[in-house]
Amino acid sequence: MKFIVSKGKIESSKADILVVSCFEKEKKDEERLSPATLGPEDGGTVVDKKFNNGISKMIVSEEFLGASGDYKLIFTGGRLNSRYILLVGLGKKRDVNLDTLRRIGGVVAKAANEVKARSVAMVFQKTAIGDFKVPDRVQSVVEGMLLGAYTFEIYKDKLDRSKLTLKEVYIFSSVNPAQVERSINIGKVIAEATNLARDLENTPGIDKTPEILAKKVKDIAAHCKLKCEIMGLDKIKSEKMNLFLAVAKGSAEAPRFIHLSYGPSKKARAKMALVGKGITFDAGGISLKPTRGMEQMKEDMGGAAAVIGIMKAISELKLNVAVDAYIPACENMPDGRAIKPGDIIKSREGKTVEIITTDAEGRMILADALSYAVERKPDYIIDLATLTGHCVYAVGERYVAILGNDQKLIDRLINSGRRAGEPLWQLPLEQEYKKKIKKGIADLRNEGATKAGTIDGALFLEEFVGKTKWAHLDIASTVRSDEDQPYIPKGCTGVGVRTLLYFLMGLS
Ligand code: BES
Ligand code: ZN
Ligand code: ZN
Repeated sequence: MKFIVSKGKIESSKADILVVSCFEKEKKDEERLSPATLGPEDGGTVVDKKFNNGISKMIVSEEFLGASGDYKLIFTGGRLNSRYILLVGLGKKRDVNLDTLRRIGGVVAKAANEVKARSVAMVFQKTAIGDFKVPDRVQSVVEGMLLGAYTFEIYKDKLDRSKLTLKEVYIFSSVNPAQVERSINIGKVIAEATNLARDLENTPGIDKTPEILAKKVKDIAAHCKLKCEIMGLDKIKSEKMNLFLAVAKGSAEAPRFIHLSYGPSKKARAKMALVGKGITFDAGGISLKPTRGMEQMKEDMGGAAAVIGIMKAISELKLNVAVDAYIPACENMPDGRAIKPGDIIKSREGKTVEIITTDAEGRMILADALSYAVERKPDYIIDLATLTGHCVYAVGERYVAILGNDQKLIDRLINSGRRAGEPLWQLPLEQEYKKKIKKGIADLRNEGATKAGTIDGALFLEEFVGKTKWAHLDIASTVRSDEDQPYIPKGCTGVGVRTLLYFLMGLS
């Protein structure tokens, strides 16, 4: 998809579709909602005039209310240069935020493909909508279009793949074209990074074994000029990442520990460490998972996928932060050589861990990765992981659970998530519960004994971050969407990429 900054009048554009939007009207009385009206914000009134008030007439006759996500395609029948007018609802003016615009982007991409349009044109007027100026609005719409147009069909017959027709997006605006261009680029980089994470998550385990995944990351790193170190079995052994090795032992595929680094050309504002859970398939190990839904456990490297997408985007946006990314990648499989419940393993950091269930493997591989990261003295450390099935019961499918030891960092991440359209909900790191993971015959048990599994998981990780400021994002609830949403097609979501990028852009 190409984005073209344009000058002139949208009503004369030759794009297949002209996009105009309208706000939802407030409720007049209890019975009736009044239909929406077109505003001058995006050329709607001008296009309407040229179209003999056809849009406003349609709005009244079809009672188009303009709720966020509503849309209507109107065939122009040659009365304008464009074949269609696409009327989209923005919802109530006071509720409009960046995510409304991201959703509009998704709706436009979907509607354009419905009528096999090759090009669309839209206007961004200088007047701010609420707090949001043109650059932010453009960026969000671009993000929404590219995210909404995402498909994962490489395993399907060519003839059965959806044919995306939309190729050109004309962006009309009276603000400085260089500024618009910059916003388009940021939106593109962010969406492409998310789509890369989605691709990695959607890929079946057989095609992303630790070895294959490491090779893919190496290629991406070479392309993006990121430093990349890949450790194989021997090096991981000599680094004493015993918890990581213990999990990997049950698989015929050897583990990899991936370390990516990015440094800006100027002095970095902060030194960040990102850690991503990279279980390329989680069968549960000897504590085998049930059959139903096990195929979804290819997504257990969602944290790693997000971190890979983030690193690519950081290098493309040339952010002014130093970032190290650490990804322990392995499979969790049952086997004669696999670890068993009851086994006790000494972590890299020195604490011993009693394995109660081999299915709580994420915290084990992350523990060693966190220790390794902490030793390199970052200012902050953030881990992303599909850590617990309990997460969806705690916060539901729309939220990421966040826990950590530094409220300022957590607040900043929550704020970034809100802007990114990936809401985060904080859970308490309740020290009272810690007793229960410390009560066994080793220093720690890998399973808590409360019903708050997401908190227990985070409490276990906390044991390995020392005094470093740390936040943990449990993305098990959001790594996949079971339904189509305006810019989140059904399937893997690439969650975490946008939150972290908004956060890092705020630092740099
Ligand atoms: N990978 C799973 C968590 C998961 C579940 C991710 C569903 C995505 C969707 C993790 O390794 C796991 O199995 N966790 C256990 C922890 C428990 C045994 C303490 C769980 O959630 O049951
Ligand atoms: Zn597991
Ligand atoms: Zn897992």
